Amino acid sequence: MRILFIGDIFGRPGRDVARRAIPALVEHASIDFVIANGENAAAGFGITGDIADTIFGYGVDVMTTGNHVWDKKEVLEYLPRQPKLLRPVNFPAGVPGRGTFLGRTRSGEPIGVVNAMGRIFMPPLDDPFAVVAREIEALRAKTRIIVVDFHAEATSEKLAMGWHLDGRATAVFGTHTHVQTADERILPKGTAYLTDVGMTGPHDSIIGVTTEVALARFLNGMPARFEPATGPGRLNAVIVTADLKTGRATAIERLNLSSEDVDALASRPLASPRA
Ligand SMILES: [Fe+2]
Ligand SMILES: [Fe+2]
Repeated sequence: MRILFIGDIFGRPGRDVARRAIPALVEHASIDFVIANGENAAAGFGITGDIADTIFGYGVDVMTTGNHVWDKKEVLEYLPRQPKLLRPVNFPAGVPGRGTFLGRTRSGEPIGVVNAMGRIFMPPLDDPFAVVAREIEALRAKTRIIVVDFHAEATSEKLAMGWHLDGRATAVFGTHTHVQTADERILPKGTAYLTDVGMTGPHDSIIGVTTEVALARFLNGMPARFEPATGPGRLNAVIVTADLKTGRATAIERLNLSSEDVDALASRPLASPRA
């Protein structure tokens, strides 16, 4: 079982590269299930129902989010009727939407996805360590394959979550910083881990925002209205291979593909039929 997880899709450049990359990766990398973080899909700020539907149409099976989930107000109506779009599970009770998905891959195998948000340099929420452990406990009665998107700023908090869930989750992937880390590994009890998957968006930017505007804010300290950068997108993602019976990860591969890399992949002839 192979799962593709795509880092924060940012604006049109991110959506465009995701649209071209996903079908090619599903085909050439034998992917059974696709998860993407979509919190910045709508011009960098939040996501709408229309944009979510479009991204699901590219072949994404479940979308996670984070602190930007509420940026577009129309998502409040969409979230409760779309179980494939998650918001962090550790928001207070009664908040629209849900933070856990339980479903099946295209080959019919059960899979669970949990989305949580960290608390260091982030708005205060319920304890993600306790909430995620509880969610995983409930999921494990139904599936051994469980992927966690831990949307957090601090590398220490993300590593702590990785070790906390080692042997209980198939994979713990960090999102939110938009900068991919190179520390992918499989922890001793079989959980695949990467501190931050990175951003799928305009990489000639400062975490997605035009460099002029974001840089000016650092130079003069004055507030400025952020503009999403344009230009070619880059795909940041990770692929985990897992053992269906145990739920343990057996391989982890980090992807950092330029727009040209994606075009080359998409133009490759289809391989022989999958086993
Ligand atoms: Fe983000
Ligand atoms: Fe975020």
